[in-house]
Amino acid sequence: MLSLTDVPNTATSLTYYEKLGLIIALSTFAAIVSLAVLCIAYKFKLGFFKRYRRTDLPLVEIPEDEAIIKPLLPSSSGPSSTTETTLLTESRTLKSICIETEESFTGSGMGLPLIAQRTISRQIRPINTIGQGRYGEVWRGAWLQGEEVAVKKFSTRDEKSWERETEIYLTSMLRHENILGFIASDLRDGDISPQIELWLITDYHELGSLHDYLVRSILTPAQMAAMVKSIVAGLAHLHYEIVAQRGKPGIAHRDLKSKNILVKKDLTCCIGDLGLCVRYDSRRTDSPRLDMPNNDKAGTRRYLAPEILDDSINVNNFEAWKAADVYSLGLVLWEIGRRTDVGVYEKYQLPYYDAVSADPSLEEMKRVVCEPSGVRPTCPNRWEAVPCLNVLQRVVKECWYANGGARLTAPNIKKNLAANLFNSIHTS
Ligand SMILES: Nc1ncnc2c1ncn2[C@@H]1O[C@H](COP(=O)(O)OP(=O)(O)OP(=O)(O)O)[C@@H](O)[C@H]1O
Ligand SMILES: [Mg+2]
Repeated sequence: MLSLTDVPNTATSLTYYEKLGLIIALSTFAAIVSLAVLCIAYKFKLGFFKRYRRTDLPLVEIPEDEAIIKPLLPSSSGPSSTTETTLLTESRTLKSICIETEESFTGSGMGLPLIAQRTISRQIRPINTIGQGRYGEVWRGAWLQGEEVAVKKFSTRDEKSWERETEIYLTSMLRHENILGFIASDLRDGDISPQIELWLITDYHELGSLHDYLVRSILTPAQMAAMVKSIVAGLAHLHYEIVAQRGKPGIAHRDLKSKNILVKKDLTCCIGDLGLCVRYDSRRTDSPRLDMPNNDKAGTRRYLAPEILDDSINVNNFEAWKAADVYSLGLVLWEIGRRTDVGVYEKYQLPYYDAVSADPSLEEMKRVVCEPSGVRPTCPNRWEAVPCLNVLQRVVKECWYANGGARLTAPNIKKNLAANLFNSIHTS
């Protein structure tokens, strides 16, 4: 029988070479385990990125069809077919490609097929940043031979906002000269960081936002009239529901402001930033007619209608959302009126610049805008005496009544301005 003292002490009885062998064996084992752990971690990381790569864009995935991609691809060895030659001539702009491809594939302007969007997006080179908003940076970019585009880069944290804005831009029959032209949405690897970026690519307008334009420039009465007419036309198109087989739902913007309107070269405007829109489709019976975004971002406090500020709005009523847009439109028209030069003009100011702080809270806005104070921006006295500004002033005041139901509607304003604003210019 062995006593405890008879058990050999293996650690001390090993020779130097045996100890060395043991150490090498243990180190090798540790290295293999670490390598295995690293491999597993890497696999998970890839899985994370794949999740984004797989994220279903709110678009219809269609098979990679050469007929769609070919016209969009740059040709390294020169155009190889007649079709390609025609499609890549200088007269082919991104806009014309978008419109033609949309029409031939969906027949109703529901945006480019996903594969075509990806192809275009991968041909875009970001050049410089042009702005910074709540969701990230906006870049000026160049497509192929240099046609400029705007790229709004969302971080993955704002994936929902990117998805929603893409979804709205793909609404059937949305395309209109006074709505910012959508080109493509795509997921891209960041240039510097390994972070995935969510891109929303639209037409680029070098004059920038209406806010930026009004800060640095004044308008002639004719420019003012054309600008106002275009914004109202854009809003009326957005609001309007087209009930037809391939119709268009009514859309309320919910974040209308001078920073979300872009100025085109001819000084007419288009409305952008559709991420907070709500859609209404009266034909739907299977699901709610009102399609609200499922993110909790509100509009811009300074431009919020009184019924939103005091929470009295009926959020399920589409008419109420349109009326809230009209209130914001009134503020934008007021900003434009101040910069109209009829021998004299006012300094650019944001609405309520003299009543609230630079970054007002909801409470602050509510105190000023809601009853009983019910303050509105002041229209300068001289507007009474100048026919075009007088017409504008009357419209503006009917846009910002406290009662949403009493406000003008966008189609009304469009009609009213067409009848009165342009006539008044000749007498201004
Ligand atoms: N398509 C475009 N063409 C030219 N400039 C653009 C375009 N889109 C945006 N910009 C510029 O980028 C700026 C930032 O736009 P963005 O919509 O991200 O932020 P914002 O409108 O200033 O604020 P918010 O986040 O509240 O909408 C705009 O003010 C404008 O100057
Ligand atoms: Mg914006």
